[in-house]
Amino acid sequence: MTDAGILSERAIILAPLGRDAVIAAKILREAGFAAEPAGGLALLCEHIAAGAGLAIIADEALKTADLQALSGLLSRQPAWSDFPFIVLTQRGGGPEKNPLAARLAEVLGNVTFLERPFHPTTLASVVRTAIRGRRRQYEARSRLDELRGLAATLEERVSQEVDARAEAEENLRQSQKMEAVGQLTGGIAHDFNNLLAAIGGSLEMIEARVAQGRMDVVDRYIAAGQNAVRRAAALTHRLLAFSRRQTLDPRPTNVNRLIAGMEEMIRRTVGPSIQIEVVGAGGLWSTLVDPNQLDNALLNLCLNARDAMPDGGRLTIETANKWLDERAAKERELSPGQYVSLCVTDTGTGMAPAVVAHAFEPFYTTKPFGQGTGLGLSMIYGFARQSGGQIRIYSEPGKGTTMCLYLPRHDRNAEEDEASVVPAEAKPAGDGEVVLVIDDEPTIRMLVSEVLEEHGYAVVEASDGPSAMRILRSDVKIDLLITDVGLPNGMNGRQIADAARQGRPELKVLFITGYAENAVVGNGHLDKGMQVIAKPFEIDALARKIREIVEDGS
Ligand SMILES: Nc1ncnc2c1ncn2[C@@H]1O[C@H](COP(=O)(O)OP(=O)(O)OP(=O)(O)O)[C@@H](O)[C@H]1O
Ligand SMILES: [Mg+2]
Repeated sequence: MTDAGILSERAIILAPLGRDAVIAAKILREAGFAAEPAGGLALLCEHIAAGAGLAIIADEALKTADLQALSGLLSRQPAWSDFPFIVLTQRGGGPEKNPLAARLAEVLGNVTFLERPFHPTTLASVVRTAIRGRRRQYEARSRLDELRGLAATLEERVSQEVDARAEAEENLRQSQKMEAVGQLTGGIAHDFNNLLAAIGGSLEMIEARVAQGRMDVVDRYIAAGQNAVRRAAALTHRLLAFSRRQTLDPRPTNVNRLIAGMEEMIRRTVGPSIQIEVVGAGGLWSTLVDPNQLDNALLNLCLNARDAMPDGGRLTIETANKWLDERAAKERELSPGQYVSLCVTDTGTGMAPAVVAHAFEPFYTTKPFGQGTGLGLSMIYGFARQSGGQIRIYSEPGKGTTMCLYLPRHDRNAEEDEASVVPAEAKPAGDGEVVLVIDDEPTIRMLVSEVLEEHGYAVVEASDGPSAMRILRSDVKIDLLITDVGLPNGMNGRQIADAARQGRPELKVLFITGYAENAVVGNGHLDKGMQVIAKPFEIDALARKIREIVEDGS
């Protein structure tokens, strides 16, 4: 047994007269208990404080003693402890008729009176009972300690648990992200391979036919190649739309009127088995969006609705003014405020939660191979976000789906703005105007210059900011600046335009932007006399845009 073990079960014996203490100690040791005589009450208290199983006290030791120290010690016992005493009385000294015994019972609490003389086995058995009781107290103590230990580490364990869970969730998110990225890269690679095959094949055929001198059939391959290029441009456009980097041309738009303009086409597209209902809110607010992209989004939503109702059904297009308060806005990841909602509801198959969870991912589709690219919703999502709005899915499998677009309210009226816009009619071609073309890509510079010259403009070229600035600072006449936005050697197109306008405040500017450069030119919010065209563009579109700028006063 350890020291602590011996201490915790020993009997402390206080019997000041004769040989009582010695005899009692001997009896106990013979019965297998540890015993420790104490010379006085103070020593007894000390031993109890150090650790003991019980105390055996002859009542004469307590008769006249000051019990304050002992009673203090007992009252300071921990909750689990009820220290046992055996008081050896004189004959007839039990608590029934003895005032001292009654007082002792009160002070000591857990006390057994044993009348002297006693038989050794009686003492041994009373001591054994006391020690068993004491052991139960020790058990209670260790259970309490355990609980206390648990409580102390509980917070730590909870926080470990929370950390572990967060890590698991993060891993899951990460792997879902990687899956989506894999789906995206796979989708792009697949589509691009097809397009490259079409373009490369067309070029090879042209080469072969030209070598054979069969010029009459060359047109066909040129058309096929151009067609593939258009499809490739459409694909990159959708991807850029998803990544919120398409070049938008936001205008104050009346969504009701936009729907009215689309209704006939939608009707024709979805077919006669689907009944269409348009519910336009009266007094609908104006919103600032790119109307072409909104047309496109609406059409895509209607196509999805059609695909979800192969056996026909009802398609409802509905607009409303929406005030989103703090909570409603947070739910939609928007800032609180006023929005115009455009919702398309169908009575089709509905979407399972797993489909809803992935629906906005590029290339996610549940449609058979060849029927869906999975780019429709991802494009609408990016467009809505880039326009300061949101799209939400409300769907019940078997019942139908509602797709709601939220677009921020625009404080000006669509009608007022439209009235002030002079329609750009077809204008005569250039008449000796001088255009400065800045692009670091010689092919693009060459193409743009050729178009310009064909239309009667004079062209000056530069490949970067510094060389362009030298021309702009000279007194060469320049009517229009056409500049790429991303340029080498220190200045981007926007900076060149701003610097040029210091000396030539009336200079008109057309920016050519790649994907990530919309922010540089103000995301479609441009100064007067500035316009944007996004790469890739068709030569015709470029020519139209140039005419518009040069001839138009704005
Ligand atoms: N109205 C709808 N009802 C039921 N499911 C829908 C609806 N709209 C979208 N979905 C589901 O979401 C998926 C993704 O839609 P999304 O428009 O992005 O791609 P897609 O229609 O499959 O292909 P794409 O639009 O490129 O031709 C669809 O394949 C379909 O499973
Ligand atoms: Mg679709």
